[in-house]
Amino acid sequence: MCGIVGYIGESPAAPILLDGLSKLEYRGYDSAGIAVYDGEKIQVQKAIGRLKVLSELTHDGAKMPGAAGIGHTRWATHGAPTNNNAHPHFNGDESIAVVHNGIIENYQKLKKYLEGKGYQFVSDTDTEVVAHLLDYYYKGDPIETITKVMHRVEGSYALGIMFKAHPGILYAVRKDSPLIVGHGKDGNLIASDVPAVLKYTRNVYFIQNEEIAVLSEEAISFFNVDGEEIIKEPSTIDWDINAAEKGGYEHFMLKEMYEQPQTVRDTLNPRIKEGAIVIEELGMSDEEIRGIGRIHIVACGSAYHTGVTAKYVFEGMARIPVDVDLASEFRYRNPILADNDLVIIISQSGETADSLAALREAKNRGVKTLGIVNVVGSSIAREADKVMYTWAGPEIAVATTKAYSAQLIAEYLLAIKFAQVRGEITEQDVRAYLKDLQKLPEQIEMLLGNKGKIQHFANRYISAKDVFFVGRGLDHAISMEGSLKLKEISYIHSEAYAAGELKHGTISLIEEGTLVAAVLTQEELYKKTISNIVELTSRGAFVLAVTNTGNTEIEKAADYVIYIPQTNRWFTNSLAIIPLQLFSYYVSVGKGCDVDKPRNLAKSVTVE
Ligand code: F6R
Repeated sequence: MCGIVGYIGESPAAPILLDGLSKLEYRGYDSAGIAVYDGEKIQVQKAIGRLKVLSELTHDGAKMPGAAGIGHTRWATHGAPTNNNAHPHFNGDESIAVVHNGIIENYQKLKKYLEGKGYQFVSDTDTEVVAHLLDYYYKGDPIETITKVMHRVEGSYALGIMFKAHPGILYAVRKDSPLIVGHGKDGNLIASDVPAVLKYTRNVYFIQNEEIAVLSEEAISFFNVDGEEIIKEPSTIDWDINAAEKGGYEHFMLKEMYEQPQTVRDTLNPRIKEGAIVIEELGMSDEEIRGIGRIHIVACGSAYHTGVTAKYVFEGMARIPVDVDLASEFRYRNPILADNDLVIIISQSGETADSLAALREAKNRGVKTLGIVNVVGSSIAREADKVMYTWAGPEIAVATTKAYSAQLIAEYLLAIKFAQVRGEITEQDVRAYLKDLQKLPEQIEMLLGNKGKIQHFANRYISAKDVFFVGRGLDHAISMEGSLKLKEISYIHSEAYAAGELKHGTISLIEEGTLVAAVLTQEELYKKTISNIVELTSRGAFVLAVTNTGNTEIEKAADYVIYIPQTNRWFTNSLAIIPLQLFSYYVSVGKGCDVDKPRNLAKSVTVE
């Protein structure tokens, strides 16, 4: 996501901020900005696009004198990538400047509150509420002010803050978004990640959740949320820059898999208010939701697979008929669309050519469109009638993992909302579903913690020629994604089949030792799939089963079993995908493939 750098010391701050931000480019961004205290006022310069533009505007920082400053690369979440939305953000009289990484979940409520107090907002961002809230509470003591703000804001944040009234000091605070402090020879730094400070120091402090750091040229001190000073020990960094950019992970794909718990929280939590689902950006009245005749989900690749999952959930839970189409098919098949249908286009990049063309086709037919998109301000986000962002942060590995997981969450939320409005489920059901959804991050963490076992298993299959993924119902949907993950990064041929369909032809491919990954998370289909597994093992297949904890009966039929924690039957795909992602990843690593950049593939497919 966004990148933060701050510096206070003897040297000119702006060049150090620009240099630090350049080391955080890997995090993805679409605009950048720096604020430097010049001895009289806090000067700000922002630019849309690459850092190069900001460097040119500031003559590599020379045009912004001063030895204290904060900088930011913004990956748009709330509000398009514009100059107004770029950070740093100011309070009204420009005496407090703020940079932020994360999502302030209750920003709309806070914004309304502050507007009621006469505060004027100039951006669409959630961050600006922090600048005004700091102003609202400021009575001369920055630490007291920051702790008051921490009590009011919900969500995740890493903040770099400058007060004009305290020019020799930088303040930083974090909760659930990364932030470190670097102790340099001629000054001190804050940053989202280690690479930004490595040129200046290898001595860093890792700020923990709800800790405040206070930096001057000579000293660094830390405080807790009650404003009490705490003592922290520095760590010495002995990694190289490349490893550090991946946060110590060997590949971006692994890093992004590990970001999934946070991604799920970020997509889910801002849409849960007082036990209810609030999707403000949907812009549909209850009457309109009740009037939906049919949903058409259109997407490509993994995004399409989340659409297949969503079909089961929308139909099962909300009883709305759903068609799922590959965008490349939809755009040319002259689909039958009615006025009261809803077309949902799902896309991480928001730039996929076929998905964009499908969106335009639906719009030309006068049908309401909703984009579920990750990249803010992308073409699909701009052109869809309404857009629901997934807030997964930038995805760098070509093979999607965290954006896929975020798309599932967005679709579950829509399905629950629609089901409730249409009277298919009760408020009590909604509360139970939300409780299960909120458990998912922790359950995903647990599954990721199991990687050793999966790595061990994957190493046995690096020379496999063909792998089959089977399941029924929702388990078929997840099999499709499991199969795609494996083939795209390990170049092993794999296919996903509805388990009941195998004996209509494909079972002839099963030989002694053929690996079959079977997914069995749907209790009502469990016995049926076990019968299919027996058909496979009796023809020599080696079966890896992924099933719910407690389904130990499977151990008699399958050769190797991975258990996933219990969740509601509609949400099992969010858990079953984790071992399948890990399996593909470790097969790819074991084969020595280029995990993050598989051959022949591009991250954003902007041609049809
Ligand atoms: C697979 C993968 C692709 C994308 C597909 C759509 O790991 O990433 O299959 O899902 O190219 O891309 P978006 O979501 O950007 O429209």
